[in-house]
Amino acid sequence: MRARCIIGVFALLTGACGGPIETLSEAEPAPDAEFPAGIDRATPWPVTAFPALPLIATDAPAARVELGRLLFFDPILSIDRETACATCHSERWGMGDGLPRSVGHGAGLRAGPGRRGPNTLRRNAPALYNLVFRESLLWDGGSRTLEEQALIPLLSDDEMSVDPATLVEELAKIPEYSGLFSHAFPEDPRVSVENLAGALAAYQRTFISNRSTYDGYVEGRPQLMSVDEVEGMFRFADLGCHECHTPPLFESEIFANRNVPEVDGVEDRGREEQTGLVEDRGKFRAVTLRNLMSNGPYFHNGSVTNKEDAIRHELTQSGMLFDDEDVRLITLFIDKTLRDERLEAVRPAAVPSGLPLPIDPPGSR
Ligand code: HEC
Ligand code: HEC
Repeated sequence: MRARCIIGVFALLTGACGGPIETLSEAEPAPDAEFPAGIDRATPWPVTAFPALPLIATDAPAARVELGRLLFFDPILSIDRETACATCHSERWGMGDGLPRSVGHGAGLRAGPGRRGPNTLRRNAPALYNLVFRESLLWDGGSRTLEEQALIPLLSDDEMSVDPATLVEELAKIPEYSGLFSHAFPEDPRVSVENLAGALAAYQRTFISNRSTYDGYVEGRPQLMSVDEVEGMFRFADLGCHECHTPPLFESEIFANRNVPEVDGVEDRGREEQTGLVEDRGKFRAVTLRNLMSNGPYFHNGSVTNKEDAIRHELTQSGMLFDDEDVRLITLFIDKTLRDERLEAVRPAAVPSGLPLPIDPPGSR
């Protein structure tokens, strides 16, 4: 058995593994063992609780979140009046769209993997979980706040392609929306571009993934994870995955070039497009592995369809030796224990514009 650094109650007591223990740093290191008696939660890294939600999330008025929800599902936000944010970020596809690369306006109401149209984007739609904790958004870190980001798909020629100022005028003519905006923003009760972005941002800050088996395990319920899942977690750490996909969020602001397969006809310089630095070419953000199972195909260009293949690719990039059993166990750990089954977005039955909602194929989830 390889030498391991076990963190848990025992390590917290002994100060093993260089964890954040200040007072006990003189203590003996932990012995090499799987689950020493009395340890109820062993992890290969210091246990860090899921971060508390910041005030910006907890203080958002319910009316603002609800307005954001209706806007998120309303295709009035697009030039063809058929494309909503939810077309590409659907609760039926883990807040992505099940496509390798998203398809913008001009493709009809149909969403999900069958969507085809003239505006195929160059990137895969990310799952929108735990955005409230992020320092940068987008695969290349090109946006810093959810308010700023919300305008990008609206303005993009190949996504929704609307002028936000004209859109706001249109929304103001719909009595239900003007009423909702004034409740959502009592201090500035206007239908404005800022408030439109603010409502979308407030809604998206409610997408939290923190109720996985892993979360229960580190909170002190070791029986939740099987022996194989625990083994997968240790191999995940042994192979260095946690250095970029860092617990408890299993992501980080690290940008790295993982040499993912290229897609014909798609040019993407990644982080270089933001920094202008040649050494950032092909670098993308270390995205979250929480809820990975529902957000395939994988990587910034959706070039890998199968989850195990994506994980195998990442193992290859580690430069370390690994075998099929590593792939199996790490897949199991990510797939089964980082999964939070709650449906964050609840699709409204109707939206204030009266337009039909995007259609995801029945039984698609
Ligand atoms: C045509 C499909 C499409 C539509 C419509 C769309 N998005 Fe996206 N979204 C994407 C893609 C693709 C990306 C990744 C783009 C990139 O990284 O350059 C993305 C990225 C994002 C991100 C950043 C996520 C992250 O993890 O960094 C947020 C937030 C987001 N979209 C919200 C929205 C909102 C709000 C709307 C509606 C106003 C919207 N999207 C409409 C496809 C879409
Ligand atoms: C040096 C940082 C780094 C390390 C170490 C790392 N990753 Fe990644 N990982 C990334 C980046 C960056 C991406 C996005 C790459 C892209 O799309 O071009 C990624 C993407 C992924 C994806 C696809 C996610 C998605 O939603 O499409 C999976 C799965 C994954 N990594 C698993 C792993 C595993 C398993 C390990 C350990 C063997 C690992 N990674 C190690 C940085 C890292």
